[in-house]
Amino acid sequence: MEVEEGRARVKVEGVFYNPRMRFCRDLDMLVFATMDSKEYFDALSASGIRGIRAALEAGKKAVFNDINPKAVKAIEENLRENGVGGEVINGDAAAVMRQRAFEHIDIDPFGSPAPFIDSACFSAKRYLSVTATDTAALCGSATNSGLKKYGAFAVKTDVYHEVGLRMLIGFVVREATKYEKALFPLISWVREHYYRVHFKIKKSTAMSARVYEKMGYLAYCSTCLRKKVLGMGEGAERCECGGKFSLIGPIWLGELKQRDFTEKVAEKAEGKLRAFLEKILAEIDAPTAYSLPALAKIHSLTLPPTDVVVGELKKLGYEASRTHYCGFCVKTDADRDLLLALQEVFNPLVNVVLLDAPLVELRLGKDGVFRSIGQVSEEPFLLLMLQFTSFGQQQIPELLPSVAVEENPDGVVHLVLVEGKPAVGIVVKEVVNEEDWVPVPKKILGIVGEIIVGSPCILKNFYGEHGSGGAVYV
Ligand SMILES: C[S@@+](CC[C@H](N)C(=O)[O-])C[C@H]1O[C@@H](n2cnc3c(N)ncnc32)[C@H](O)[C@@H]1O
Ligand SMILES: [Zn+2]
Repeated sequence: MEVEEGRARVKVEGVFYNPRMRFCRDLDMLVFATMDSKEYFDALSASGIRGIRAALEAGKKAVFNDINPKAVKAIEENLRENGVGGEVINGDAAAVMRQRAFEHIDIDPFGSPAPFIDSACFSAKRYLSVTATDTAALCGSATNSGLKKYGAFAVKTDVYHEVGLRMLIGFVVREATKYEKALFPLISWVREHYYRVHFKIKKSTAMSARVYEKMGYLAYCSTCLRKKVLGMGEGAERCECGGKFSLIGPIWLGELKQRDFTEKVAEKAEGKLRAFLEKILAEIDAPTAYSLPALAKIHSLTLPPTDVVVGELKKLGYEASRTHYCGFCVKTDADRDLLLALQEVFNPLVNVVLLDAPLVELRLGKDGVFRSIGQVSEEPFLLLMLQFTSFGQQQIPELLPSVAVEENPDGVVHLVLVEGKPAVGIVVKEVVNEEDWVPVPKKILGIVGEIIVGSPCILKNFYGEHGSGGAVYV
């Protein structure tokens, strides 16, 4: 089978070729064209696609290597087909890199790059590029694998890709310091199933010690999602919420990109690549990121739009941005408590318009259970226009402008929707029965960002049992 990619056409029969990595290779070519290097060592070449494209699209003098003789044959044929010259080696990449220095090395392995990083750091003179597809080991999903391969501890957090990318960078940076080399990410990203980092290398005794100023730990509380940055050797007390901190690390706490470099890459990009690079450029460097849905879920709050939270944090003088890897996450140097306070402030302001709103009555029974009454919808969804401070414990909801309250002498609270007022809602799954009071299920299925009551609508920012996204009809 022959594939066309960028300016190359390569045969991929019997060798590894992943079409899903095309976006990565497209972006790599812009990165390579921005690097002022000549030589490029494609240490794990497979079909040779990366090195051939590096030669054709970024003017590099590529050297190829693969341990598999079949791959070597394929590379030689593909070089001929594309009219590209280049040395082809059939060796173990780690051994080759021990014997010879290269200006720029690319490690694009199956799974983990860990076995190649020591020799790559020994050999690479100016640039090092690394891919990792073993994201579970890096992001805290597979804690023991992370310890074994990367010598760092992680648990899965609400922003696991932030942790994963930083664990990878931290590992590579540490591996290089024994060779008196200081590595800095020029650009790095998370996408689909992989992490990718391009490093600049500086050979310097002083600088290779100073990289540890950007290395350290993230103290993470799984109870309240708080995160605190700790340098090497620093410790953390208990979290303010009473929960215990897990110390994630050592990880890289510094910049995930060099702005000037990334801007130059972006200038060359178009379409999807450009949009992706702009997301990377918009991101601040703070390692403390939060998933708004995760915070909202823990605290039974509704979800304000990410941009609104970012905008408000900036107005308050904090650094804040979206992230390139998650649409509902924010990065900020503000404390978690402030984020939470913001979510509370913005809960009632989520844009909901009530059109022909059906009357919803809720009653708080003597047993403390909320029950709804009245025909609300034919659909098996009921939109409760309430903000519960703690849904699970049936606390009285904080009332929103859209909800009027009537208290009867018998202590039953009636909550009635008011038409035309902004409100937020929590969607619960329920078939409403006209005659009987139906207990409102405790399980929250989703949290609404924006919804038009009374007409079919798209449920934005939806998450819950059925994953994210989707539509609901009320
Ligand atoms: C993920 S593929 C490389 C994909 C390629 N860079 C691309 O963009 O399509 C990994 C390659 O590494 C080769 N490989 C595995 N272990 C190796 C080793 N120790 N030394 C050299 N090559 C190795 C495999 O034969 C395989 O072709
Ligand atoms: Zn806590």
